[in-house]
Amino acid sequence: MSSKTWTAVDDYIVSSIFEADPVLDAVLATNRDQGLPAIDVSAAQGKLLSLLVRIRGASKVLEVGTLGGYSTIWMARGLPAGGKVVTLELDPHHAKVARSNFARAGVSAKVDMRVGPALQSLAALGSENVGPFDLIFIDADKPNNPNYLSWAMRLSRPGTVIVCDNVIRDGAVVKKDSGDANVEGARAAFSFIGAETRLDGTAIQTVGAKGYDGFAIAIVD
Ligand code: SAH
Ligand code: DHB
Ligand code: MG
Repeated sequence: MSSKTWTAVDDYIVSSIFEADPVLDAVLATNRDQGLPAIDVSAAQGKLLSLLVRIRGASKVLEVGTLGGYSTIWMARGLPAGGKVVTLELDPHHAKVARSNFARAGVSAKVDMRVGPALQSLAALGSENVGPFDLIFIDADKPNNPNYLSWAMRLSRPGTVIVCDNVIRDGAVVKKDSGDANVEGARAAFSFIGAETRLDGTAIQTVGAKGYDGFAIAIVD
């Protein structure tokens, strides 16, 4: 089984279940034209995030790592009227592209994007009392995973769902001392979730258009 098959199956999932989505197609085209790396979640994963927002009944969502806003738009679409996604992005160019994508997708009123290092934005959110969030999606610089998980705990309530992306990394997560900071970040997410008694979690390996990776999911007790 090859990554070609995984991509074909992802295409099958999307073409058989999802409606045609010219807005999200245009978002991905804009990201490509603007030189953003193609590291957004896949369509099937984006839809899962949207479903998780609905399953949780979330009205306050926090995302760490916006890129061009592809995952943000999926989550915003799952929100009820009056719901909000606060999304944190370091790179001003990514943020500019994301802002235009939010407008195109008609979700600007549901998105509060904070530009700057996420750790600074998280500290600001902590003092602004905008939390607790109902669902938190962590998808930024992987070495900071434990810091983001730590903030996620502080900005959560019992029942908050935390999703952490890219924790399998082609299976490299099982390699101790890999020397790869992203892999060490993935391992740190596992250590954090395993050690935090207030988190009940698991991780799911995924294949698809984005290769072999996976996400961790946990609920705050
Ligand atoms: N969630 C997006 C993909 C995010 S890619 C999607 O699925 O569509 C990771 C993003 O995190 C990049 O845009 C990168 O600029 C941003 N990032 C990296 N380090 C960061 C930091 N310290 N603070 C905030 N954002 C950061
Ligand atoms: C990378 C980051 C991501 O968020 C992702 O989904 C895939 C790859 C990366 O930095 O390599
Ligand atoms: Mg990711």
